[in-house]
Amino acid sequence: MKVLANDGISQSGINALQDAGFEVNTTTVAQAQLANYINDNAIDVILVRSATTVRKELIDTCPSIKIIGRGGVGMDNIDVDYAREKGINVINTPAASSHSVAELVFAHLFGLARYLHNANREMPLEGDSRFKDLKKAYAKGTELKGKTIGIFGFGRIGQATAKVAIGVGMNVLAYDPFLETADLELSFYDGQKLNFNINTVSKEEVLKQSDFITLHVPAQKNYVIGKPEFDMMKDGVIMVNAARGGVIDEIALVESISSGKVARAALDVFEKEPQPEIQLLMNPALSLTPHTGAATNEAQDRIGTELASQIIDILK
Ligand SMILES: NC(=O)c1ccc[n+]([C@@H]2O[C@H](COP(=O)([O-])OP(=O)(O)OC[C@H]3O[C@@H](n4cnc5c(N)ncnc54)[C@H](O)[C@@H]3O)[C@@H](O)[C@H]2O)c1
Repeated sequence: MKVLANDGISQSGINALQDAGFEVNTTTVAQAQLANYINDNAIDVILVRSATTVRKELIDTCPSIKIIGRGGVGMDNIDVDYAREKGINVINTPAASSHSVAELVFAHLFGLARYLHNANREMPLEGDSRFKDLKKAYAKGTELKGKTIGIFGFGRIGQATAKVAIGVGMNVLAYDPFLETADLELSFYDGQKLNFNINTVSKEEVLKQSDFITLHVPAQKNYVIGKPEFDMMKDGVIMVNAARGGVIDEIALVESISSGKVARAALDVFEKEPQPEIQLLMNPALSLTPHTGAATNEAQDRIGTELASQIIDILK
């Protein structure tokens, strides 16, 4: 059986597939040549991330395909329903990067709470000439422990974020209109496990009571956080969007920073990717990353091994 990992796959995934007798090809074939390549090489499994698309025409032209796999979550680049109608298995790895995103949220939160985003910008420029001024400017940091984090969207990443928050000693408030309660199991280094049951609360409660707010909702038609939601938040709130560009109204965010409602915020995702608004990029109250929430070696390993085990289950 032949697997074409057109957008790459981790070595751990390659090893698992090869151990099970699959031939793994990691050539990146250009989209226009893909159909010919699949047919010439009798490929059984095509694996993609976000770059390669697998549309109806490709599916129709390549009858050897038995599985289409997406390393990651969103499957916008695959005609999933059509493939399934034709009897092709379509698989993905929705949980593989949840903890990676949760840790990026906390990288931003710890950074924002202690002004690391500003200190890292200013120390290279003025750390020698204005050391004492900078020390004073960043003297009013806050701790996360004992504070309340509000989580919008209590699915895989929201729950992974709650686990880290509990570990840090935060109170967790979660809002999710489609989920009433969630059981979280925290595992510790020595094998101990602790269970926490979190009941979701109203949107208003999360907005009004949280010191920190983080978004983990899917992309949707309207903003989840716009001016009315910002107005309800505590003064001086710190917030993070590592969900999708467009779930937060970026103009309302900048205005809420100017008015002091939002003290500082972090963005990993933007309404305009890959060219975020300059007003965001230059805003000193923002901690910024270029959509790297899922980008860890561990997540890539999990994606590879999860895809491999699903392929082996289906085809062996
Ligand atoms: N930054 C990154 O690199 C990165 C990586 C992976 C995923 N993501 C994004 O993170 C988000 C969450 O992913 P996930 O795997 O946890 O998804 P998930 O489907 O497991 O969870 C999403 C949750 O949001 C809830 N929800 C839907 N609409 C809501 C609303 N209006 N208000 C509150 N809750 C709402 C759903 O009921 C669900 O429980 C997605 O937008 C995904 O695209 C970002």
